[in-house]
Amino acid sequence: MKILYAASEANPFAKSGGLADVAGALPKALVKDGVDARVIMPLYGDLKYRDKLEYVTNYSVPVGWRSQYCGLFKADVDGVTYYFLDNEYYFGREYPYGFFDDGERIAFFAKAVCECIQYLDFMPDVLHCNDWHTALSPVFLREMYHCVKGYDNIKTVFTVHNLKYQGMFDGFMLGDVLGLADYPAARDQLMQDGAVNFMRGALNYSDRLTTVSPTYAQEVCTDFYGEGLDDVFNRRRSILSGILNGIDTEVYDPWRDKGLTKFFSAPQMAGKKNCKAALQQMSGLRENPDAPIIACVSRLVGHKGFSLVTDVLHEIMSMDVQMVVLGTGDWNYEESFRQAQNQYPGRFAAHMMYSPNLSTAIYGGADLFLMPSISEPCGLSQMIAMRYGTVPIVRETGGLKD
Ligand code: GLC
Repeated sequence: MKILYAASEANPFAKSGGLADVAGALPKALVKDGVDARVIMPLYGDLKYRDKLEYVTNYSVPVGWRSQYCGLFKADVDGVTYYFLDNEYYFGREYPYGFFDDGERIAFFAKAVCECIQYLDFMPDVLHCNDWHTALSPVFLREMYHCVKGYDNIKTVFTVHNLKYQGMFDGFMLGDVLGLADYPAARDQLMQDGAVNFMRGALNYSDRLTTVSPTYAQEVCTDFYGEGLDDVFNRRRSILSGILNGIDTEVYDPWRDKGLTKFFSAPQMAGKKNCKAALQQMSGLRENPDAPIIACVSRLVGHKGFSLVTDVLHEIMSMDVQMVVLGTGDWNYEESFRQAQNQYPGRFAAHMMYSPNLSTAIYGGADLFLMPSISEPCGLSQMIAMRYGTVPIVRETGGLKD
């Protein structure tokens, strides 16, 4: 079987969240199983290993009434072929998203994925799209590319990693950017309350829908978790499944992880004590082997449930425990954690930043891992924590429940 896996980010090239971990790990695991899985993603300005890419070809992509250049590059990592779509104007920037023209950039990407298949020496049986960034590909494929040789045999799978970001834009985009104003079926299936909703398009057009855990697949059909899309999930329930993510146990391996002070493994746990002492030193906690360290590594945003922690912070700290929090996000959470650090010197460490090194030290050295998410499609941190012998404490939702 041939699978083209389209994602806006993938390890080791670009990462802003869990999607990149899955896009790096799943195709690799599929290839090991004998599947020809290849990844396709944008060539960002700050893409890692940029100088290692091999040029393949270039072609043009219609974006509404315009025609835009797209360069195609590739690279091989661990037996997986990665394709990169290049357009300086859209992607020659530092961060993957967060720009005023994200709607157009992402629409270009989704279209360029469809356009590109005819230039590859690879005709996929399945186009596997992920989250709103690739949500328009199944729409374009059916509406605009069904006449291209071989394209009508391609089946589409769309995986929801995060419903909080759906790609909602002003209705004028339907014609001006997507070029779909004269396609009544597309209009009906993309528009929601006068806006274009990219994710709604994918949910309506794809042959199969998956979410990243079985529980979340049930949750998205409800009003509370459905984020305004529960009507489509319910209508298409027969083709919706929940498949739990996994982590790459070679990347996350306490027996080989060079970021740790000492290696350890399930049968040989001795090294974890050294990792705990190192974490206490590194993060400004008092060196005390007996105080359990409760850790959080997360984006500090509402749906991660941190108000459940800040509300009872002093009760937690009244026990003989230490806490370390690593992450950035909403000001109110950052501020509560900074204040806690002042109030409990040597027992509470607030690192309001992004740091892969400290994150490894935390997974390796902490005793307990706190994940109070209000909603959590899957969550990878609890799995990484378990891999490093750090017991997760979670709220019963989505992948945390599974
Ligand atoms: C998103 C979800 C998270 C999931 C990850 C990978 O980041 O919020 O729960 O683990 O995608 O699928």
